[in-house]
Amino acid sequence: MKLKIAVLPGDGIGPEISKQGVAVLDAVAAKFGHSFEYTFGHVGAEAIDLTGNPFPDETLKICQDADAVFFSAVGSLKYDNDPTAKVRPEQGLLAMRKSLGLFANIRPIQIFDQLSHMSPIKEELLKGVDFVCIRELTGGMYFGEKYRDNDRAYDTNAYTRVEIERILKVAFEYAGKRRKHLTVVDKANVLDSSRLWRQIAQEMAPQHPDITVDYMFVDNASMRLVQDPAFFDVIVTENTFGDILTDEASVISGSMGLLPSASLGTGTPLFEPVHGSWPQGAGLNVANPLAQILSAALLLEHFDLMQEAALVRKAVDESIRQCVRTPEIQEPGKPKYGTTDIGAWIVDFISK
Ligand code: IPM
Ligand code: MN
Repeated sequence: MKLKIAVLPGDGIGPEISKQGVAVLDAVAAKFGHSFEYTFGHVGAEAIDLTGNPFPDETLKICQDADAVFFSAVGSLKYDNDPTAKVRPEQGLLAMRKSLGLFANIRPIQIFDQLSHMSPIKEELLKGVDFVCIRELTGGMYFGEKYRDNDRAYDTNAYTRVEIERILKVAFEYAGKRRKHLTVVDKANVLDSSRLWRQIAQEMAPQHPDITVDYMFVDNASMRLVQDPAFFDVIVTENTFGDILTDEASVISGSMGLLPSASLGTGTPLFEPVHGSWPQGAGLNVANPLAQILSAALLLEHFDLMQEAALVRKAVDESIRQCVRTPEIQEPGKPKYGTTDIGAWIVDFISK
């Protein structure tokens, strides 16, 4: 298969993990006789430094011309601590999601048995944990009308029927392919936007009689995630709730550095780690590249390259099993491997 892939390394640890992800894709291409062609683009703080824009037109063009976007991370301390900054790296990511129509963010939460003792959750609660968060990504407060003066500010949590229906459709499809249990997370006891979500979900549910649908307030869902994570199969929720709940869900596995995600919609699909740019770790060769490498597996699966993706997943599992791990998930007394060591080990495993 021929694929054109737009590679956007971004900021912080982004370039280091991106390199390992691309090396893994190259190893897969060589092994299975595919041709992956990469075009590199600028995004985030590094794009602001170069062009003044966190998502330059040229990057948009590169993404639009590609079959997939392989993205890493944006964000920089310089902007985090400056609420007055007029342009921010994160705007690049938001502009990219919006302009590519990527309304569905798919974040699978998976437990690695070898790492379950590192989870902040008791091991006995982790049995059977395997769920997917489906986060709406181009609506809600992130994109609603905004205002700020010195004394007053607001962000509007606006959703249209069309936006809600299309993300719920994705969620019902995922649930249908999995354990057929969908949890719609909202705050319908307080918010009108949530009441519309719940109303539309209730309208759609009878068309999916095989799926058990339950409705949960977001505060309750955040509690349930740590009390009984095995309860969940597919969670669907709006943009801001999804942002918060997926960070919470991501640490259940023991390290945020393990979780990939896919953003899908009307334009070029995008694959990226759930974690951010970790500026403090940049350049130290300590960042865990596995979330980026598993994002490559999601990319391969998206194009139905199932055998290829399975080999990537096997290589990742095996690296963890053999304790070829970055410091944050390494066992005491075992050597600490760097970002490049993990990438090289996985490339080697795939190429054998
Ligand atoms: C995420 C991130 C982004 C978000 C930031 C970097 C804008 O936290 O992908 O979850 O809030 O959506
Ligand atoms: Mn987030």
